[in-house]
Amino acid sequence: MSGRKKRTAILISGRGSNMTAILKAARDPDYPAEIALVLANNADAKGLATAANEGIKTAHVDHRPFKGDREAFDAEIQKVLEANDIELVVLAGFMRILTASFVERWTDRMLNIHPSLLPSFKGLHTYERAIEAGCRLSGCTVHFVRADMDSGPIICQAAVPVIDGDDADSLSARILVAEHQIYPQALALVAGDRVTVDGMRVTIRHDEPVDGSVQLVN
Ligand code: GRF
Repeated sequence: MSGRKKRTAILISGRGSNMTAILKAARDPDYPAEIALVLANNADAKGLATAANEGIKTAHVDHRPFKGDREAFDAEIQKVLEANDIELVVLAGFMRILTASFVERWTDRMLNIHPSLLPSFKGLHTYERAIEAGCRLSGCTVHFVRADMDSGPIICQAAVPVIDGDDADSLSARILVAEHQIYPQALALVAGDRVTVDGMRVTIRHDEPVDGSVQLVN
């Protein structure tokens, strides 16, 4: 690969299946990001053990002693990121709301994945709401993080069908398969300097022409 790998931190709170997908992709010598740190806000996050077993450096910043002082919590996270020379931050099921000042510091260098086709269904209970609204398609979105939740410029999206009889569990399982595909791809695009951001629009420099054919999913 040309260029230096970008030092990347993944922030998690739980099982870390997206983290695992990214760790797997990052084993490729040509992958443009190096996962230099996995950080969790709770010591028993399952993903923390997974990362440690993979030989990845882990850190734990417990939010509870900060007693709701989000600025102080974020400052502590920032300290750990700086101590590890982190250049890109990947939120992967990180269940704390970050302060506007922290988010601004990481503008266009912090990614999140959300289990809906944004801008539809920001926030929680995305599966139930997509099913309730009668959507035939749902999916997931990787976007740059902005101070407003689930609102940043979109890097990648994947659509999956909503099948008659779906419930939140079956739909979330189908979307998760897509998440594991697009999150490593999106990080590779950003780390490989293939992405430019203009307002809400992201432009991607592709090597191959993009397949513009219509894909009928459902
Ligand atoms: C995923 O559904 C993701 O879309 C959401 O949180 C969940 C994290 O799952 N932001 P995992 O910890 O990566 O398995």
